[in-house]
Amino acid sequence: MAQEMKTIGVLTSGGDAPGMNAVVRAVVRKALMNGVAVKGIKKGYQGLLNEEIIDMKATSVSDIIQKGGTILGTARCKEFTTEEGQKLGADICRKHGIDGIVVVGGDGSYKGAAALARQGINTVGVPGTIDLDISSTEYTIGFDTAVNTAMEAIDKIRDTSSSHERCSIIEVMGRNAGYLALWCGIANGAEDILLPEKYDYNEQSIINNIIRNRKRGKTHHLIINAEGIGHSTSMARRIEAATGIETRATILGYMQRGGSPTCKDRYFASIMGAYAADLLCQGKSNRVVCYQKGEFVDHDIQEALAMTKQISEYEYEVSRLLSGNV
Ligand code: ADP
Ligand code: F6P
Repeated sequence: MAQEMKTIGVLTSGGDAPGMNAVVRAVVRKALMNGVAVKGIKKGYQGLLNEEIIDMKATSVSDIIQKGGTILGTARCKEFTTEEGQKLGADICRKHGIDGIVVVGGDGSYKGAAALARQGINTVGVPGTIDLDISSTEYTIGFDTAVNTAMEAIDKIRDTSSSHERCSIIEVMGRNAGYLALWCGIANGAEDILLPEKYDYNEQSIINNIIRNRKRGKTHHLIINAEGIGHSTSMARRIEAATGIETRATILGYMQRGGSPTCKDRYFASIMGAYAADLLCQGKSNRVVCYQKGEFVDHDIQEALAMTKQISEYEYEVSRLLSGNV
């Protein structure tokens, strides 16, 4: 017999992502339509442990669908990785009459949700991270906004790189995943794309490529470097020393985490948020909402965490071919 839900909570956790507000809006409004009350938990699991909990009404989420960031705030919380912290979190949920929680975040946040479920609080995860690195889903909320923000910035760098006939290394986010780098590499027509999943750390081959392209008359050289490889500034110094070509590094950084979410992120966030609210209101637990083969589905959290995915060999090969790197 599924547990009856009278009140659910929603929290955003881990690195923030454009579209998280649209998830919160959908969770609140869909749960209220299901006759279930909603409480907002501020600052992720840290806010839960600090009992930073607020009542949410339909109007609490007015005029936020277009806003980046998360109105609830987010944080990382070491204490919640301990069983003691998880037990405390569950006790606080029960104290505030919270029967279940929608957790918006990445794999780490999913592990927290699984831990909370083990403590008897129903949980459902929604994939919110700009990294696209959650294996159980083909899409994570925030990626489309982040990759377009990065692409537009790199187009600007390409202009000045051409004017000065320079080599430019642009470092993008993604933690240990190379999806932001691969997509920007292709979209910006980069000459080299360095992915943590693929890079052989053979810097000489990059140098040879730059020299060969310069001889062919190319006036600039764009290198997209994933932060999982990093060291872009020292890489720029070594490349300039080896080629004699002015080389500059740009670390795009946190601009990739902000900005008004794109239509795609608002759409995915709204559907996934409503789906998660429905799962919880039906008394489901320990589930995560996923996008697989063109459909919104849900999986057990442990099953989801055990799934793996790789960078597409074909897409990576195309990125090398189109950059002339053969
Ligand atoms: P993301 O959710 O984007 O992967 P993190 O890896 O920082 O971001 O995880 C977000 C939060 O989830 C952490 O700060 C911590 O509170 C919680 N968390 C992460 N891993 C675990 C774990 N193994 N068990 C319980 N909670 C965890
Ligand atoms: O997970 C999202 C992300 O932006 C990663 O791409 C990046 O490595 C990390 O968060 C940065 O974390 P923080 O905001 O804690 O510095």
